[in-house]
This record gives sequence, C-alpha cells and structure tokens, in this order.
Amino acid sequence: MAGIVLEHLEGTDWRAAWVERSRRRRKPDACAYWDDRAREFRRHSGRSEYADAFLAMLDLAPGQSVLDMGCGTGTLALPLAEAGHPVTAADFSEGMRTALAERARSAGIGGLNVLPLSWTDDWQGAGLAPKSADVAVASRSIMVEDLWDALMKLDAVARHKVAVTVATEYSPRGYKALGSAAEGLACYLPDYLYVMGILWQMGANPELRYIDTTRPGTADPELGSESIPIRWAFISWKPVSA
Ligand SMILES: C[S@@+](CC[C@H](N)C(=O)[O-])C[C@H]1O[C@@H](n2cnc3c(N)ncnc32)[C@H](O)[C@@H]1O
Repeated sequence: MAGIVLEHLEGTDWRAAWVERSRRRRKPDACAYWDDRAREFRRHSGRSEYADAFLAMLDLAPGQSVLDMGCGTGTLALPLAEAGHPVTAADFSEGMRTALAERARSAGIGGLNVLPLSWTDDWQGAGLAPKSADVAVASRSIMVEDLWDALMKLDAVARHKVAVTVATEYSPRGYKALGSAAEGLACYLPDYLYVMGILWQMGANPELRYIDTTRPGTADPELGSESIPIRWAFISWKPVSA
C-alpha cells in the first residue's frame, strides 16, 4: 500500500487531482439545501467549543478586519463582530444570511457587512477588492469543484492571514456507505490533505492544527442518534498573492 501511495504522490498536480476526484463525488449542495438547513442552524446558535477553539487559533490582533466566507448563521462572524472586528460575512444562502442578520439584531451586534456571495462568483465584481481584509476565513464551508480556485480567492482578499477548517474524516460529499471503491480510489486521502497539497503547490507554507469536538446525536437517520467525536483540520497560512 505504501508503494502505491508514493507512486501516486510523486509529481501530483493537486489541483487536477481534486477536480478529478470531485467529478466522481456527489455535486456540492445547492443553495436551496442550505436555505433549508438554516432552520436547523438557528436551533444550534450560540457560542460553541468549536468556535472558541477556532478563534483562539486564529489569534487576531485587535481591530483586524475579517472576511468570513460561507459564514452560515454566524458561528464566527458574530463573536468576531462582538469583539470589535469589522466583518464581511458572506454566504450564498439567503436563509443563512437572514438568520445571521436576525441573530445580530437581537444580540445588538453591529459592525457586520452581510454579503450574498458564492465560491464560484466573480469576487472582485461583488465588491471584494484584492487585499481588502486583514484576514480571510472559511469555516467548514469549502464545498467546491475547484479547490485551488477557492483557496486562491481567499488568499487574494487577505493581507495577513488565511485560515480554513476542513474535514479530516470521510467527506460529506463522498459515498460513505460504499467506501472509496465507489470513487475508483486505490486508497482514501482525506480532503484536508488535498488542501495542504494545493497550498504547497501555490507556494504557501500552511500550518496544520486540529480542532477536536463532539457532535451531539441528531434526529437525522443519515447522521445518527449517537454523539460522535469530530476532528477538524485547522489550516492557516500567510497569503502568497500580491
Ligand atoms: C457547514 S455550514 C458552516 C457555517 C459556518 N461557517 C460554521 O462554521 O458554522 C456551510 C456554509 O457554507 C455555505 N456554502 C456552501 N456552499 C457555498 C457556496 N458555493 N458559496 C457560498 N457559500 C456556500 C452554506 O450556505 C453554509 O452556510
């Protein structure tokens, strides 16, 4: 097995490898799916051990501005704005953006610029100029067919730092029940290793840490009623684009 892995890793074009693997998976979920899930996200709103760990690792200087891409209902955007950081909270789901705005209003939190935006949009056209934020983050929200393009977009916006979290386990877009054979893979590489590979290919020096959390049991039969440990890869780097 080690021989197979090395043979495939040497000379790997990580961007192309991701696109190729992505083709064999479920398509990223459409906006309507996330609009629907916004209802469930509202129920879990509030401070979480995940958000606390993410923000501690992010380690911002006072007043640094942040782009939070795929912000959802504000897991990070709300505590960041509350702490006095100017935040652009971007998401393609209107349901998520509405829930975020409501939570901000009811908590009396200002300093948020809520922006409709998809990973596949023209970000400059949407008003996100290059180097327009000190820091860019994407928390559990990179679900794209071109991972290189998404990471590059974050890199282009950020002046000082980019941080993303990605699954270390089997991707929600994979065919979990069938295993890697269904994707035609000799062995399985978790998504975060593709992020590391692409960043290395971009000339960045990514730092990898982990956030360990527990997901409570759910009523969703696909997710299960047992609470399970979840490990997120927290990957941060200094932007490489000018
Ligand atoms: C799992 S939630 C994470 C929300 C929040 N960042 C957090 O960590 O709690 C994923 C978010 O990514 C957003 N998202 C998914 N695909 C997207 C896309 N193509 N463009 C913009 N946002 C997207 C969803 O609407 C959702 O709000």
